[in-house]
Amino acid sequence: MALDRKTVPNDLSAFWMPFTANRQFKKAPRMFVSADGMFYKAADGREVLDGTAGLWCCNAGHNRPKIVEAIRAQAGELDYAPAFQMGHPKAFELATALRDMAPEGMDHVFFTNSGSESVETALKIAIAYHRARGEGARTRLIGRERGYHGVNFGGISVGGIVTNRKVFGSLLTGVDHLPHTHLPGENSFTKGQPEHGAHLADELERIVALHGAETIAAVIVEPMAGSTGVLLPPKGYLERLRAICTKHGILLIFDEVITGFGRLGSSFAAEHFGVMPDLMTTAKGLTNGVIPMGAVLATGAIHDAFMQGPEHMIELFHGYTYSGNPMASAAGLATLETYREEGLFARAAEMAPYWQEALHSLKDARHVIDIRNMGLIGAVELEPIAGEPTKRAFQAFLDAYEKGILIRTTGDIIAMSPPLIIEKAHVDQLIGTLRDVLEALD
Ligand SMILES: Cc1ncc(COP(=O)(O)O)c(C=O)c1O
Repeated sequence: MALDRKTVPNDLSAFWMPFTANRQFKKAPRMFVSADGMFYKAADGREVLDGTAGLWCCNAGHNRPKIVEAIRAQAGELDYAPAFQMGHPKAFELATALRDMAPEGMDHVFFTNSGSESVETALKIAIAYHRARGEGARTRLIGRERGYHGVNFGGISVGGIVTNRKVFGSLLTGVDHLPHTHLPGENSFTKGQPEHGAHLADELERIVALHGAETIAAVIVEPMAGSTGVLLPPKGYLERLRAICTKHGILLIFDEVITGFGRLGSSFAAEHFGVMPDLMTTAKGLTNGVIPMGAVLATGAIHDAFMQGPEHMIELFHGYTYSGNPMASAAGLATLETYREEGLFARAAEMAPYWQEALHSLKDARHVIDIRNMGLIGAVELEPIAGEPTKRAFQAFLDAYEKGILIRTTGDIIAMSPPLIIEKAHVDQLIGTLRDVLEALD
């Protein structure tokens, strides 16, 4: 099909693109101009199968009528309402809908505009909660190696992806890290949750012994680490982490920015694994990725600890101009309705075994050294080119795009997380094309 030049700008220099190899991109731009269902349309007219739900966020697929209509209607009714000391109905409706969808006990919702902001919000709530209860010495935060918690200073401080941290100065003080849970060899090519590694949670006891529990506010982990290349929690690991946190009065924060909204075949990973955190961070699938929005969910105990002092006083000095923005709230409500009406979380669970088998059929493909999966998430790890880490997987990403599938890479790991509306034929196309790409790679 002919290039639709009307939609492609010819000056790409001004936009400094995020997490992008800017010079490479601008020499050979990859532009999407529309999207529907499981497919993007590229500027050159090709259909590209979405193997990543955008950036792990378009869980209901693209161009969903209910969401589009809700945004249209909201724009013409109430465009903006001040977020501080004023309200509008849809933010309250969405908070209630989210509470009803979340694991029992996650009773209160604080709105943000992204996963990164949800993380900062949760970390601040954790520290302020202890202070409100008279334990102001609990300020330390514990993250995990290879963890991804967005890109703001709190998030990169507790995060453990080296490239996201090392050029940005001294970060937050009073932060420690658990070891990551990736055990190549012992757990390679595991289908679903790996057997080995629950003991890695015991490292928290070592950190507690080092600093004293009375100085530690919270532990934050992704129940399943996505952005670092799909690292799954070993069986029993999250349960142990929960038990140690409870024993020492430390809050457990689950960063569910990726795992929320059906990605694992349940509403949230907390429900999936049967392990309840004290705070949960969400974003992405909350609005199907259509409008930026995030939310932190908190237990009643945490929320109520703040509800003291004179009633005219603000209880938590934190919030964003766009917290619970009307357009985002409308998109969120329509998104949650779409998930519910179409039973998309159950659908993801039903499709997961087919996805798992298709993914693991790549075990004998060229360069593959590990495959990991859970729900509708999959990772294919490639042997790096000696001395040139990331290059092989990046080439796979470029070749895959040329062949009509969108995948994502981090390091030499290919990560996939398709919309939950994916059909078996799409799985076959995605995995079949990926095999062709891998076989042709240097
Ligand atoms: C677990 C986790 N936390 C936080 C974030 C940051 O979200 P955002 O890019 O919306 O700030 C992400 C993004 O991928 C994530 O995967």
